[in-house]
Amino acid sequence: MKIFRTISELQNWGIPNQNNNIGYVPTMGALHEGHLSLVKHSKNTCKITIVSIFVNELQFAPEEDFEQYPRTLEQDLAKLKHLKVDALFLPLSTEIYKNDFSFLISEKKLSQKLEGLSRPGFFSGVTTIVCKLFNIIQPSFAFFGKKDIQQLIIIKKMVSDLNFNITIVGCETIRESSGLAMSSRNQYLSNEDKKSASLLYKTLVLGKDLLNNFEEVGSVKLQMKTTLENNKKIKIDYISIANLDTLREFKKNVILKNEKAVISAAIFINGVRLIDNIIIE
Ligand code: PAF
Repeated sequence: MKIFRTISELQNWGIPNQNNNIGYVPTMGALHEGHLSLVKHSKNTCKITIVSIFVNELQFAPEEDFEQYPRTLEQDLAKLKHLKVDALFLPLSTEIYKNDFSFLISEKKLSQKLEGLSRPGFFSGVTTIVCKLFNIIQPSFAFFGKKDIQQLIIIKKMVSDLNFNITIVGCETIRESSGLAMSSRNQYLSNEDKKSASLLYKTLVLGKDLLNNFEEVGSVKLQMKTTLENNKKIKIDYISIANLDTLREFKKNVILKNEKAVISAAIFINGVRLIDNIIIE
């Protein structure tokens, strides 16, 4: 596996420039099975797979965990080598965000909902770095997890609105046997916390079952809220039942019929923020 620390090193690599040959998996490191499944998808689709690890300060609010964010480079390298990734791009933040860097790519509608309300500035941080990395790497395909469903929807919109010639592939969420979605931030949780955290997915499944049984959206949300609040460790940030494409929230007394929807939720456990979602197609 080649490792590139600078943009010019990567671009001088001379990747064979044929159609559909570069698959790209952007990450912030602390790699887990979720990331590795993205890499495997890329390897199955593309001739060359490039992974990047860059903890992007721009998407962290000042009070968030940028400094504490897990950095596990040695283990990450071993995992990527094991999967026979072709190249790892490990840029320096001084090159990515030079002193006079003064641009921001912002999405104006989808990013004003859900995560965007709780984490202002998060999505413009994500779209700015992903836009830069797309320009640097110029992949044909890029792979993102469905666990961060709003991020995936916004990146697809960015690629469409800004005419990137890249196919965005959304890959299924990888879960622990308890149902807990894999996330680098799970490292902050004790085993006891993880047990509580597994209630998040169980509650999403409950929500999906209730909607499939034609319960009203308002009643479903209420039952989900009650289920989560039964666990004293859990503090709910939001529960949402929205259209899968537009993220428009379904009204309280609507019964879901023939529309693609996503039930998503964000909770805190001992101050650790976790998100997850389930799709109804
Ligand atoms: O999902 C992530 O890990 C990050 O938001 C991403 C896409 C790598 C951008 O920093």
